[in-house]
Amino acid sequence: MATLATKSLIWRPWTHMLTAFDPIEIVHAKDASLISREGKRYLDGISSWWVNLHGHGHPHIIASIQSQAETLAHTLLADFTHLPAMSLAERLLDLLPGNMSRIFYSDNGSCAVETALKIALQYWHNENPNTTRTRIVSFKGSYFGETFGAMSAAGENAFNTPFWRHMFPIDQIDPPFFGNEESAYAQLKLILKNNQTACMIFEPLILGAGGMRPYSPQGLDQLIQLCKEHQVLTIADEVMTGFGRTGTLFASDVLTHTPDLMCLAKGLTGGTLPLAATACTAPLFERFVSTNPSHSLMHGHSYTGNPIACSAALASLRLLTNSICTEQRNRIAERHISFAHQFKGHRNLKRVETLGTILILEHNLQKPDLSRALLNQGILLRPLGNVLYVMPPYCITNDELTEIYEALISTLDLT
Ligand SMILES: Cc1ncc(COP(=O)(O)O)c(C=O)c1O
Repeated sequence: MATLATKSLIWRPWTHMLTAFDPIEIVHAKDASLISREGKRYLDGISSWWVNLHGHGHPHIIASIQSQAETLAHTLLADFTHLPAMSLAERLLDLLPGNMSRIFYSDNGSCAVETALKIALQYWHNENPNTTRTRIVSFKGSYFGETFGAMSAAGENAFNTPFWRHMFPIDQIDPPFFGNEESAYAQLKLILKNNQTACMIFEPLILGAGGMRPYSPQGLDQLIQLCKEHQVLTIADEVMTGFGRTGTLFASDVLTHTPDLMCLAKGLTGGTLPLAATACTAPLFERFVSTNPSHSLMHGHSYTGNPIACSAALASLRLLTNSICTEQRNRIAERHISFAHQFKGHRNLKRVETLGTILILEHNLQKPDLSRALLNQGILLRPLGNVLYVMPPYCITNDELTEIYEALISTLDLT
């Protein structure tokens, strides 16, 4: 039986360990609820860090995991292959926008990004080992994960200060926020003039961990078009936005100009097992298929394409592409819109916005520990500074959404 002492053996992610409150032990989860050892229920308003799509303990996904575990739990994916990995690749390529033609598996969003960056950089290296196309462009305020490539691509920020001198230099432009599209375009144009850019990486439609800031799809489209005109590769990091969060199945679905690479993770298995995928187009893949063995992508992970995780993903995609899920997402989006409409312009709010199933509120109050106050009310939301957002599992009921809204109203004094 775990005691307080055993709880403290764990070094918790993204946590200031000196001041952190004692972690809540969760023993069970069902639908949108997490249940603690004390029997208290917490509504999962952020889908357990944006991973859960259809609710906790979904029987369809659980059954797939169970039956796959009995058949084949794991084998390597170099000299071997297996049906779950093949079927998932086929399904993803079917669903993804643009002309994606290959899937590379890994285990988490950071690794999906790392893989995409390495593919983009090696693409140019394979063409010419002395290539000058070695630089990466990204938007200021981006977040791509925790590995050194992902950290470097996002640029220096308050969270990665200890590592700045080990990170590689990149070029950054302002995101094409609504009204700022022309300036972002001009900034990118100036950078691309030097012919030193290998790729541009971006979180499509919204900066996530960087403050939940939506930006202009048309602005992004123009930037991708500009990249294409300069033969610069584009990487859409859909780790957060993928699988219906922003309204469409993928955020890139609303773009006319589609990316060359896409990164997927988080919701891929419906929030049950770690799995990530990097998709790329045929011309990219073909540059790695050569008589020169050094042109191969020498990259991979022990659990690449784990069969149980792939089976979970296939089950999750079946649920996602069912009309019930579309209705759920539309209902959440409509409820968010009417909440946002009600509180737009409130004196305590700098910003209230929605994007698909995501509701965003930026407040101007001096209230430090909102996350604790919300947990006391049985609501799990994890603010990003002064930004509170709701990104629930799609199974959340109207009553549960109302509970979250009411907690937001009381916590932010929106009455
Ligand atoms: C856009 C984006 N990319 C990459 C990552 C990293 O994913 P992971 O935490 O699975 O490594 C995140 C995580 O929040 C993310 O939001």
